[in-house]
Amino acid sequence: MRVVAGQMLSFIDDPAIVGEERSYRFFDRGAVAIDDGGQIAWSGPLADLPDDWRRTAITDHGRSLILPGFIDAHLHFPQYRMIAAYGADLLDWLNRYTFVEEQRYGDPALAAQAAHAFLDELVRNGVTACLAFSTVHPEALDALFGEAERRNMAVISGKTMMDCNAPRGLSDTPESGYLRSKELIARWHGRGRLQYAISPRFAVTSSEAQLEATGALKREHPDLVLQTHLSENKAEIEAVARVFPWSCDYTDVYDRYGLLSERAFFAHGIHLSERELARLSETGAAIAHCPTSNNFLGSGLFGYRHAREATRPVSVAIGSDIGGGTSFSMLATLRDAYVVSQLAGARISAFDAFYLATLGNARLLHIDHEIGSLDPGRFADLVVLDPEATPVMAARHALSASLHDVLFALIIMGDDRAVAETYVAGRPMKSVLATADNA
Ligand code: GUN
Ligand code: ZN
Repeated sequence: MRVVAGQMLSFIDDPAIVGEERSYRFFDRGAVAIDDGGQIAWSGPLADLPDDWRRTAITDHGRSLILPGFIDAHLHFPQYRMIAAYGADLLDWLNRYTFVEEQRYGDPALAAQAAHAFLDELVRNGVTACLAFSTVHPEALDALFGEAERRNMAVISGKTMMDCNAPRGLSDTPESGYLRSKELIARWHGRGRLQYAISPRFAVTSSEAQLEATGALKREHPDLVLQTHLSENKAEIEAVARVFPWSCDYTDVYDRYGLLSERAFFAHGIHLSERELARLSETGAAIAHCPTSNNFLGSGLFGYRHAREATRPVSVAIGSDIGGGTSFSMLATLRDAYVVSQLAGARISAFDAFYLATLGNARLLHIDHEIGSLDPGRFADLVVLDPEATPVMAARHALSASLHDVLFALIIMGDDRAVAETYVAGRPMKSVLATADNA
C-alpha cells in the first residue's frame, strides 16, 4: 500500500467534445491511494485523504504532476534500436533497414535482450502501456510478452503476418500466419495484463489469401484488437492499388476482408479520401496518428481536426511509431502532433494532446476500465512529470500562468528528462532503472 502525492491531473472526457473546462480533474495538492493489488483505491485532494490511509507512508512528488501513465497506441518493438535510419521514404526505409533488422528477431536470445531494453525505454519515458507490433517470429512475441508479464505491464501485441513482398526470413504463409497466431492467442491473450492483437503488417505484404485468413481470425476472436497500417505514403497507396485492382481505394482492401471495426487500429491514415474517412467512421475504426514518424519519413501532414469532423467523425489515437518515429517520448510525440496541427491549419491544445495520450488511447483500446485515468479501480499506472526538469524548463515554468501553459511547455520542451517517476501497477519503476544503471 502506498499514497502518492503531488499535483494531480486526470481526464474525464474528450476536451474536443465536452470543452476544456469539463474534460479534466486537477488538484494542486492531490493524492492517489494505491492498494496491495496495485490498483487505485482512492484519489482526490490530499486534504481529503480518507482516515484509513493517513497512516500509510506518503511518497510526495511536490510540485510535479501525477498523471495516468502514457499509452502508446502504435510502435514497433523490433525497431527499438533502428531509430534514426536515413531512408528516402517509407518503402525505401522498410526495405533498406527495417526488414533487415526485423529478421534478427528469430533469435530468442536477441529478442529477449531487446524486449528488456525496449520496455526499459518505455518506462524511462513514462509509457506504461502500448499497442505494439512485433515481428513475424513467434519467438519475438514470446520474448516481449514474457518480459512485459514479469513487469506486470499492459502490453498489447501480436505476431506480424506478412507473406509477400518481403524477404524470405521475414515471411510466413496464409496457413502458418493463421496457425501461429492461434497458438499465440491461446498462450498469451488475457494472461496477466497482456492482450493479443491480430497483426497483418499492411496490404503491401499480405496476399489475398492471408487477408482472408486474417478476416477468419477476426471473426473467430471478435474481442481482439487488430492493428495494421493504412495510407501513409503515396507510393505505398499506388502499390496497393496495383496489387488489388478490384479495390476502390486502400481502405476498401481491408474492408473487403472484414477488418474494419471499433477494435481496429490503422496507423497513419494521412491521405484518406472522404469516402474512406466516412467508412472508418461508420465502422468505428481508429486511426493511430504518428506525427514524429510522418515528419521523419516525409509521409505527409495528418489533419487531426479534419479526421474528427462531426459529420463523419473518425476516432484518432496517438503513437510514436518507433522506429519510424524519432522519439520514445510521448511528450515529444505530442509536440510533433501540435506542430503538425499548426501546419495543417487547425491547432490542437495541450489538453487535447494529454487527453489523447492517456484516456483517449485507453478508450479506443477498450481498456479505460483498467487504465487511462486516476479513478478508483484503475491500475496505478502513473507518470510523474517535472515541469522544471532542466534549467531552461525551470525558467520557462516560472512564466507559466495557467495549467494549460504548464502542460503546453511540457509537450514543447519535455522528453524523458521530465519524467521524474513511472509507476506500473503501483510499483515505482523508473527510479529502479536509474539505480540499476548506476550499479
Ligand atoms: N508500413 C508497414 N510497415 C511499416 C513500418 O514498420 N513502419 C511504418 N512507419 N510504416 C509501415
Ligand atoms: Zn508502424
